[in-house]
Amino acid sequence: MAGLEIKKLCKSFDIKGTKVSALNNINLLIEDESFVTIVGKSGCGKTTLLRIICGLENQTEGNISFIYRDEKLKEKDSKKKVSIVFQEPRLMPWLTVEQNMAFPLIKNKNRQEVCDIVHKYLNMLGLEKFKEAYPSQISGGMAQRVSLGRTLCYNPEIILMDEPLGALDAFNRSKLQREFINIFLENKKTIVFVTHDVDEAIYLGQKIVVMDKGHIIKKEIIDMDYYRDSSSNKFLEIKNSLLKEILA
Ligand SMILES: Nc1ncnc2c1ncn2[C@@H]1O[C@H](COP(=O)(O)OP(=O)(O)O)[C@@H](O)[C@H]1O
Ligand SMILES: [Mg+2]
Repeated sequence: MAGLEIKKLCKSFDIKGTKVSALNNINLLIEDESFVTIVGKSGCGKTTLLRIICGLENQTEGNISFIYRDEKLKEKDSKKKVSIVFQEPRLMPWLTVEQNMAFPLIKNKNRQEVCDIVHKYLNMLGLEKFKEAYPSQISGGMAQRVSLGRTLCYNPEIILMDEPLGALDAFNRSKLQREFINIFLENKKTIVFVTHDVDEAIYLGQKIVVMDKGHIIKKEIIDMDYYRDSSSNKFLEIKNSLLKEILA
Protein backbone atom coordinates (compact mmCIF):
# COMPACT_ATOMS: atom_id res chain seq x y z
CA MET A 1 0.00 0.00 0.00
CA ALA A 2 1.10 3.55 -0.51
CA GLY A 3 0.57 7.12 0.62
CA LEU A 4 1.75 10.41 -0.78
CA GLU A 5 3.86 13.32 0.32
CA ILE A 6 3.29 16.59 -1.52
CA LYS A 7 5.92 19.26 -1.00
CA LYS A 8 5.92 22.91 -2.05
CA LEU A 9 3.69 22.19 -5.01
CA CYS A 10 2.85 25.12 -7.31
CA LYS A 11 0.99 25.25 -10.59
CA SER A 12 0.38 28.18 -12.86
CA PHE A 13 -1.34 28.24 -16.23
CA ASP A 14 -0.44 30.55 -19.04
CA ILE A 15 -3.58 32.02 -20.53
CA LYS A 16 -2.71 34.15 -23.58
CA GLY A 17 0.49 35.41 -21.97
CA THR A 18 -1.08 35.99 -18.54
CA LYS A 19 0.08 33.78 -15.70
CA VAL A 20 -2.80 32.34 -13.68
CA SER A 21 -1.78 30.71 -10.43
CA ALA A 22 -3.90 27.63 -9.65
CA LEU A 23 -1.90 26.08 -6.80
CA ASN A 24 0.39 27.80 -4.35
CA ASN A 25 2.86 26.11 -2.02
CA ILE A 26 0.78 23.00 -1.34
CA ASN A 27 2.25 20.81 1.41
CA LEU A 28 0.28 17.73 2.31
CA LEU A 29 0.88 14.32 3.76
CA ILE A 30 -1.58 11.66 2.65
CA GLU A 31 -0.94 8.69 4.83
CA ASP A 32 -1.05 5.12 3.66
CA GLU A 33 -4.57 3.65 3.99
CA SER A 34 -6.13 6.94 4.97
CA PHE A 35 -9.27 8.67 3.70
CA VAL A 36 -8.54 12.33 2.96
CA THR A 37 -11.20 14.74 1.76
CA ILE A 38 -10.37 18.01 0.03
CA VAL A 39 -13.06 20.67 0.21
CA GLY A 40 -13.25 24.18 -1.20
CA LYS A 41 -15.17 26.53 -3.45
CA SER A 42 -15.25 26.04 -7.19
CA GLY A 43 -12.03 27.24 -8.84
CA CYS A 44 -9.83 26.83 -5.73
CA GLY A 45 -7.59 24.26 -7.43
CA LYS A 46 -8.99 20.88 -6.31
CA THR A 47 -9.14 19.27 -9.75
CA THR A 48 -5.74 20.65 -10.72
CA LEU A 49 -4.23 19.06 -7.61
CA LEU A 50 -5.76 15.65 -8.40
CA ARG A 51 -4.68 15.89 -12.05
CA ILE A 52 -1.09 16.55 -10.99
CA ILE A 53 -1.14 13.69 -8.45
CA CYS A 54 -2.18 11.20 -11.13
CA GLY A 55 0.15 12.57 -13.78
CA LEU A 56 -2.44 14.10 -16.14
CA GLU A 57 -0.84 17.50 -15.58
CA ASN A 58 2.69 18.65 -14.71
CA GLN A 59 3.42 20.88 -11.75
CA THR A 60 5.30 24.16 -12.20
CA GLU A 61 7.27 23.65 -8.97
CA GLY A 62 7.55 21.22 -6.08
CA ASN A 63 7.30 17.46 -5.93
CA ILE A 64 5.14 14.51 -5.03
CA SER A 65 6.59 11.31 -3.68
CA PHE A 66 5.03 7.99 -2.84
CA ILE A 67 5.42 6.58 0.64
CA TYR A 68 5.47 2.80 0.79
CA ARG A 69 4.78 0.36 3.53
CA ASP A 70 5.95 -2.48 1.32
CA GLU A 71 9.35 -1.90 -0.29
CA LYS A 72 8.45 -4.18 -3.21
CA LEU A 73 5.88 -1.66 -4.43
CA LYS A 74 8.63 0.79 -5.29
CA GLU A 75 9.41 -1.24 -8.37
CA LYS A 76 5.85 -1.22 -9.65
CA ASP A 77 4.98 1.06 -12.54
CA SER A 78 4.06 4.38 -10.92
CA LYS A 79 1.06 4.82 -13.22
CA LYS A 80 -0.41 1.61 -11.82
CA LYS A 81 -0.47 3.02 -8.31
CA VAL A 82 -2.91 5.88 -8.78
CA SER A 83 -6.30 5.93 -10.44
CA ILE A 84 -8.94 8.66 -10.70
CA VAL A 85 -12.75 8.55 -10.64
CA PHE A 86 -14.32 11.60 -12.28
CA GLN A 87 -17.65 13.34 -11.61
CA GLU A 88 -19.13 11.81 -14.74
CA PRO A 89 -18.80 8.01 -14.99
CA ARG A 90 -17.06 8.02 -18.42
CA LEU A 91 -18.21 4.50 -19.28
CA MET A 92 -17.89 3.05 -22.74
CA PRO A 93 -21.45 2.99 -24.12
CA TRP A 94 -20.86 0.02 -26.41
CA LEU A 95 -19.73 -2.23 -23.54
CA THR A 96 -21.93 -3.82 -20.86
CA VAL A 97 -21.53 -3.08 -17.14
CA GLU A 98 -19.44 -6.22 -16.76
CA GLN A 99 -17.27 -5.44 -19.80
CA ASN A 100 -16.71 -1.85 -18.66
CA MET A 101 -15.45 -3.12 -15.33
CA ALA A 102 -13.28 -5.80 -16.96
CA PHE A 103 -11.74 -3.31 -19.38
CA PRO A 104 -8.64 -2.33 -17.37
CA LEU A 105 -7.82 -6.00 -16.75
CA ILE A 106 -8.06 -7.71 -20.10
CA LYS A 107 -4.54 -6.90 -21.25
CA ASN A 108 -2.71 -8.40 -18.29
CA LYS A 109 -4.89 -11.16 -16.87
CA ASN A 110 -6.33 -14.42 -18.09
CA ARG A 111 -10.07 -14.97 -18.59
CA GLN A 112 -10.72 -16.71 -15.29
CA GLU A 113 -8.80 -14.11 -13.28
CA VAL A 114 -10.72 -11.28 -14.97
CA CYS A 115 -13.99 -13.07 -14.30
CA ASP A 116 -13.19 -13.59 -10.60
CA ILE A 117 -12.12 -10.00 -9.98
CA VAL A 118 -15.07 -8.47 -11.84
CA HIS A 119 -17.55 -10.67 -9.99
CA LYS A 120 -16.09 -9.77 -6.63
CA TYR A 121 -16.77 -6.06 -7.28
CA LEU A 122 -20.09 -6.59 -9.08
CA ASN A 123 -21.24 -8.24 -5.86
CA MET A 124 -19.70 -5.70 -3.54
CA LEU A 125 -21.38 -2.84 -5.40
CA GLY A 126 -24.75 -4.57 -5.86
CA LEU A 127 -24.41 -4.67 -9.65
CA GLU A 128 -24.61 -8.41 -10.28
CA LYS A 129 -28.17 -8.21 -11.65
CA PHE A 130 -27.20 -5.47 -14.09
CA LYS A 131 -24.00 -6.95 -15.45
CA GLU A 132 -25.47 -7.46 -18.94
CA ALA A 133 -26.93 -3.93 -19.12
CA TYR A 134 -25.43 -1.15 -21.23
CA PRO A 135 -24.66 2.28 -19.68
CA SER A 136 -27.74 3.81 -21.38
CA GLN A 137 -29.95 1.30 -19.52
CA ILE A 138 -28.84 2.11 -15.97
CA SER A 139 -29.34 5.10 -13.65
CA GLY A 140 -26.73 7.79 -12.94
CA GLY A 141 -26.06 6.38 -9.46
CA MET A 142 -25.53 2.94 -10.86
CA ALA A 143 -23.26 4.22 -13.62
CA GLN A 144 -21.11 5.95 -11.00
CA ARG A 145 -20.95 2.67 -9.12
CA VAL A 146 -19.74 0.93 -12.29
CA SER A 147 -17.10 3.61 -12.70
CA LEU A 148 -15.93 2.98 -9.14
CA GLY A 149 -16.06 -0.78 -9.79
CA ARG A 150 -13.84 -0.35 -12.85
CA THR A 151 -11.31 1.51 -10.69
CA LEU A 152 -11.44 -1.15 -7.96
CA CYS A 153 -10.86 -3.88 -10.57
CA TYR A 154 -7.78 -2.02 -11.72
CA ASN A 155 -6.65 -2.24 -8.10
CA PRO A 156 -4.57 0.92 -7.66
CA GLU A 157 -2.90 1.72 -4.34
CA ILE A 158 -4.38 5.20 -4.28
CA ILE A 159 -7.83 6.18 -5.52
CA LEU A 160 -8.46 9.82 -6.36
CA MET A 161 -12.09 10.93 -6.66
CA ASP A 162 -13.07 14.26 -8.18
CA GLU A 163 -16.58 15.09 -6.95
CA PRO A 164 -17.81 11.61 -7.94
CA LEU A 165 -21.25 12.17 -6.39
CA GLY A 166 -21.74 15.72 -7.62
CA ALA A 167 -24.27 14.79 -10.29
CA LEU A 168 -26.42 12.50 -8.12
CA ASP A 169 -29.65 13.10 -6.20
CA ALA A 170 -29.48 13.27 -2.39
CA PHE A 171 -30.76 9.72 -1.87
CA ASN A 172 -28.19 8.07 -4.15
CA ARG A 173 -25.54 10.37 -2.81
CA SER A 174 -25.90 9.29 0.80
CA LYS A 175 -26.19 5.64 -0.20
CA LEU A 176 -22.93 5.81 -2.15
CA GLN A 177 -21.20 7.75 0.62
CA ARG A 178 -21.82 4.76 2.88
CA GLU A 179 -20.54 2.43 0.19
CA PHE A 180 -17.33 4.45 -0.14
CA ILE A 181 -16.78 4.01 3.59
CA ASN A 182 -17.41 0.26 3.31
CA ILE A 183 -14.99 0.01 0.41
CA PHE A 184 -12.39 1.99 2.30
CA LEU A 185 -12.73 -0.22 5.38
CA GLU A 186 -12.80 -3.50 3.44
CA ASN A 187 -10.10 -2.80 0.87
CA LYS A 188 -7.59 -0.76 2.86
CA LYS A 189 -7.06 1.74 0.07
CA THR A 190 -5.72 5.24 0.29
CA ILE A 191 -8.52 7.54 -0.88
CA VAL A 192 -8.31 11.22 -1.78
CA PHE A 193 -11.82 12.53 -2.26
CA VAL A 194 -12.58 16.01 -3.61
CA THR A 195 -15.91 17.69 -2.90
CA HIS A 196 -17.39 21.17 -2.59
CA ASP A 197 -19.84 19.84 0.02
CA VAL A 198 -18.69 20.39 3.61
CA ASP A 199 -21.09 17.75 5.03
CA GLU A 200 -19.74 15.15 2.61
CA ALA A 201 -16.15 16.06 3.51
CA ILE A 202 -16.84 15.59 7.23
CA TYR A 203 -18.92 12.43 6.73
CA LEU A 204 -16.12 10.71 4.80
CA GLY A 205 -12.73 12.11 5.74
CA GLN A 206 -10.27 11.09 8.43
CA LYS A 207 -8.40 14.22 7.46
CA ILE A 208 -10.08 17.24 5.87
CA VAL A 209 -8.07 19.65 3.79
CA VAL A 210 -9.68 23.02 3.13
CA MET A 211 -8.52 24.90 0.05
CA ASP A 212 -9.07 28.47 -1.04
CA LYS A 213 -7.65 30.29 -4.07
CA GLY A 214 -4.91 27.73 -4.66
CA HIS A 215 -3.83 27.53 -1.00
CA ILE A 216 -4.46 25.03 1.76
CA ILE A 217 -6.02 27.12 4.52
CA LYS A 218 -6.80 24.41 7.04
CA LYS A 219 -6.13 20.74 7.79
CA GLU A 220 -8.33 19.01 10.32
CA ILE A 221 -8.17 15.51 11.71
CA ILE A 222 -11.65 14.03 12.33
CA ASP A 223 -11.51 11.53 15.15
CA MET A 224 -15.08 10.26 14.80
CA ASP A 225 -15.97 6.63 14.06
CA TYR A 226 -17.79 5.60 10.88
CA TYR A 227 -20.66 5.98 10.12
CA ARG A 228 -20.97 9.52 11.34
CA ASP A 229 -24.15 11.18 12.50
CA SER A 230 -24.45 14.49 10.66
CA SER A 231 -26.86 15.82 13.27
CA SER A 232 -24.54 15.16 16.23
CA ASN A 233 -23.07 18.10 18.15
CA LYS A 234 -19.54 17.19 17.25
CA PHE A 235 -20.32 16.99 13.52
CA LEU A 236 -22.08 20.37 13.61
CA GLU A 237 -19.24 21.96 15.56
CA ILE A 238 -16.71 20.82 12.96
CA LYS A 239 -19.01 21.97 10.18
CA ASN A 240 -19.39 25.44 11.65
CA SER A 241 -15.67 25.87 12.16
CA LEU A 242 -14.90 24.74 8.58
CA LEU A 243 -17.59 26.98 7.11
CA LYS A 244 -16.13 29.92 9.01
CA GLU A 245 -12.76 29.30 7.33
CA ILE A 246 -14.25 28.81 3.88
CA LEU A 247 -16.56 31.82 4.01
CA ALA A 248 -14.08 34.15 5.74
N1 LIG B 1 -6.17 23.83 -18.36
C1 LIG B 1 -6.30 25.02 -17.77
N2 LIG B 1 -5.89 26.15 -18.38
C2 LIG B 1 -5.98 27.34 -17.74
N3 LIG B 1 -6.46 27.51 -16.51
C3 LIG B 1 -6.88 26.44 -15.84
C4 LIG B 1 -6.83 25.13 -16.43
N4 LIG B 1 -7.31 24.24 -15.52
C5 LIG B 1 -7.66 24.96 -14.43
N5 LIG B 1 -7.41 26.27 -14.62
C6 LIG B 1 -7.63 27.34 -13.63
O1 LIG B 1 -7.08 26.94 -12.41
C7 LIG B 1 -7.90 27.30 -11.31
C8 LIG B 1 -8.28 26.08 -10.51
O2 LIG B 1 -9.16 25.27 -11.28
P1 LIG B 1 -9.68 23.84 -10.80
O3 LIG B 1 -8.51 23.07 -10.34
O4 LIG B 1 -10.48 23.28 -11.90
O5 LIG B 1 -10.60 24.22 -9.55
P2 LIG B 1 -11.72 23.36 -8.79
O6 LIG B 1 -11.59 21.95 -9.23
O7 LIG B 1 -11.44 23.59 -7.35
O8 LIG B 1 -13.03 23.96 -9.19
C9 LIG B 1 -9.08 28.05 -11.92
O9 LIG B 1 -8.81 29.42 -11.86
C10 LIG B 1 -9.11 27.54 -13.35
O10 LIG B 1 -9.65 28.51 -14.21
MG1 LIG C 1 -13.03 20.66 -10.06
